[in-house]
Amino acid sequence: MTIVVAIDGPAAAGKGTLARRVAKDLNLAYLDTGLLYRATGFAVIQAGGDLDDANDALKAAQNLTPTDLENEKLRHDEAAQAASKVAVVQPVRDELLEFQRRFASQPPAGKAGAVLDGRDIGTVVCPDAPVKLFVTASCEVRAQRRLKELQDRGLEAIYAQVLQDMKDRDARDSQRAAAPLKAADDAVILDTSDLGIEEVIEQAKSIISEKA
Ligand code: DC
Repeated sequence: MTIVVAIDGPAAAGKGTLARRVAKDLNLAYLDTGLLYRATGFAVIQAGGDLDDANDALKAAQNLTPTDLENEKLRHDEAAQAASKVAVVQPVRDELLEFQRRFASQPPAGKAGAVLDGRDIGTVVCPDAPVKLFVTASCEVRAQRRLKELQDRGLEAIYAQVLQDMKDRDARDSQRAAAPLKAADDAVILDTSDLGIEEVIEQAKSIISEKA
């Protein structure tokens, strides 16, 4: 029996950092599902396609290769916004679903299970996951964190723009018809607005050991 930990939440809430640490400390395989959408959106841009065209987006999702997921540029905000656009297309989500489910059910040998982070892991990808966490924080706190992250990487950014981009992405991700961002009914909500990352990790690990 392997364990599946589903972690969902809005951008820059701390999901990625939490998921990576939980995976390392508990010997779980980790999948950042946002990367699949980022790589899809980025491929549309590179092909000169239209991010609002469902066919362009689906073609990009169908042709994704593992090396596409390694591109450094996927971390840029351009890729994040592009990801959020192609992610509204239901056939794109369907195309990426099987890979995510397989990763969850058949983690690499030697791993005790898998942790996946995204927007719809607890609701759609792994609705039977024994542990579901919904990690959130206020929009302002998340924008501050993203601003610092961009500046630490030597990129120029201004708070007002980062906040607006965050609001746009939140709205698109939560208001779309296809697998919108929302907490599963049985998810535990972790609000990280006033918590340091170590506290969040400790809380998450104690929830996992209770539930798993
Ligand atoms: O987690 P992230 O910031 O890398 O995600 C980028 C975008 O991809 C996000 O704004 C919406 C989309 N996404 C999604 O729709 N479903 C997921 N499971 C993961 C990401």
